[in-house]
Formats: sequence, structure tokens, C-alpha cells
Amino acid sequence: MRPNLSVEISGVRLKNPILLASGTAGFGCEIADLVNLSAIGGVVTKTITPLPREGNPPPRIWETPCGMLNSIGLQNPGLEAFLSDIAPELEKLDTEIIVSVGGSSIDDFVKIINSLNELPFIHIVELNLSCPNVAEGGIHFGREAKTVAELVEKVRGIARMAVWVKLSPQTSDIVEIARAAEGAGADAISVINTFPAMAIDIHSRRPRLGGITGGLSGAAVHPVAVATVYALAQKIGIPIIGIGGITRPEDAVEMLIAGASAVQIGSGYFSNTRLPEECVDFLTDYLVQHGFNSVEDIINSAEI
Ligand SMILES: Cc1cc2nc3c(=O)[nH]c(=O)nc-3n(C[C@H](O)[C@H](O)[C@H](O)COP(=O)(O)O)c2cc1C
Repeated sequence: MRPNLSVEISGVRLKNPILLASGTAGFGCEIADLVNLSAIGGVVTKTITPLPREGNPPPRIWETPCGMLNSIGLQNPGLEAFLSDIAPELEKLDTEIIVSVGGSSIDDFVKIINSLNELPFIHIVELNLSCPNVAEGGIHFGREAKTVAELVEKVRGIARMAVWVKLSPQTSDIVEIARAAEGAGADAISVINTFPAMAIDIHSRRPRLGGITGGLSGAAVHPVAVATVYALAQKIGIPIIGIGGITRPEDAVEMLIAGASAVQIGSGYFSNTRLPEECVDFLTDYLVQHGFNSVEDIINSAEI
């Protein structure tokens, strides 16, 4: 018998727990020819902000021995273009679309959520708390438990859809931040975003990235992501979405065992566009081989 791969997270049933991470798949429609979107559980869109953003100067990507750096700088066409040009295309896709929302003030987040409330096919938003908070001098929203609680409470109060909160590992205590988000009404926690990182060309002695520093992702961050998911699974009661360095199907299964209810694939799919589907197939075989009827049986099942 084929095992049941579907998972229910924050009141939304996904056909399977394999998703694509924000910023690595455009808005979803751009990659429809590369990835069989109907085979995966969903796509998280590029983060949208109220106004268009040009992003950082190039180069924006640098490959490292076991990962990559990016300094895209939240380039996106802005809310208006998203609503008029992109959303109608997304509605046609046969997968769950999770809209990633960013801004530089709480009002920015509120403005976007109010507009997304008008789109019935959007069942989930993911708040990107790595955005710089202008009111706090550019320190990102996810840094302080108090700011996280304030933002999440405001958004939860108006959002018609489920609210996932994506946290940066750049904080002194991610468990405290996740608890603040949970207490304020978050429906799930997505971890992790990239780590601040840098590479320098030793001959020109110039940074490899136009933005000088960037975010590290890929295989290098995977064990840290697994540890973060595991730590949160012991301490919070809402679902966790595991992100970070999934470059092989085994990594996705490991993340589920650590406590994730679903996983998101980012950089790993740049070098292998078949990876999302391979994860679905491998997960199916793994469940059969180990005698599980449902993927939900392995979530948070680490034998410690
Ligand atoms: C090129 C690139 C662009 C990204 N843009 C965003 C973004 O707009 N919003 C966001 O929340 N995360 C963004 N991320 C972070 C990813 O969603 C993910 O959290 C991170 O890359 C770790 O996963 P990975 O190791 O599988 O890539 C971006 C990552 C990359 C590599």
C-alpha cells in the first residue's frame, strides 16, 4: 500500500511535506517548466515588499566549497505588480502557494496582508523576519522577542490565512524568539534563514559580493538547521518547517525525523532541479521500507 504523504499544517492540508524555499524559486510560475510543481507540496514565493526593490549590486551569488553566499537584497517587483501580474499566474499552479511577506515596518507587513486577504487561493503567508526594521535602526525584526511578538500579534489579528513565521539563526536565543512568535499567535515556525557570511578575492582583496557580505546557505548549514529544528521541537507546540542545506533526499527525511512537519528546499535545487521530486520518491520508499503508513509517523521521531 502506498503510504500517505499528506500533512496538515496550520489547518491547511499539503499533498506532501516537500516545499521550495523563498527566494530560490522566483514566484513559482518561472520554474514551472523546470520542476513538476504538481508533484510537490508547495512553493514559497520570493519575499514581497510594499514597494519594488532593486536589490543589491552584482555579483550577488558566490559558490563556496559546500554551499553558497547570496546578497540579493530582497529584489522584488513590489505589492502592486504582485497583485496585478503575478498572482493571476500563481492561481493556475497545481500546488500550494505560500506568500513570503517582508517590509521595513509593522505597517508594511499589515498593508501586504490586507491585500493578500482579498486573494482566496492564498491559504498561508510566511513572514520573513530577516528584513531590516527601520524603527530599530535597521536591526532585523527577528532579533528581539518583543518586536517579534508585536509584529506577529498585529499580523495574526488581521490575517485571514495561516501565518508562518520564518526566523533567522542570527539571534542569541532562537527558542526564546520562537516562543514569542508562538505566544503571539503564529501558526508555524520556519527555520532557518541564511547565516551572515563573506568571501574575499585574495588577489584583488575585494569582497566576492557586491553587497560585501551575504547569506550562507546549502550543505554547510544543514547540521545547524537540523539542530535548530530539533531544539524547537522540544520546546514549542506549533509545527516547525525545516529549511537549510537539503541537498540530498536523505536530508529531507532527517529534517522530518528531527521534528519538522514539512521541509523547504533552497540552494540544493539550484544544482539539481530534480531534487524536489527525488525527495518525494525517496520519502515514499523510505516509509514503505521502514513499515510506516504515513509521513506523520516519522515527524519528531528521533530516538534519543
Ligand atoms: C538566492 C537566494 C535568495 C533568497 N531569498 C530569500 C527571500 O527572499 N526570503 C526569504 O525568506 N529567504 C530567502 N532566502 C533564504 C532561503 O529561503 C533559505 O532559508 C536558505 O537559503 C536556507 O536554505 P537552503 O540551504 O536550502 O538554501 C534566499 C536564499 C537564496 C540562496
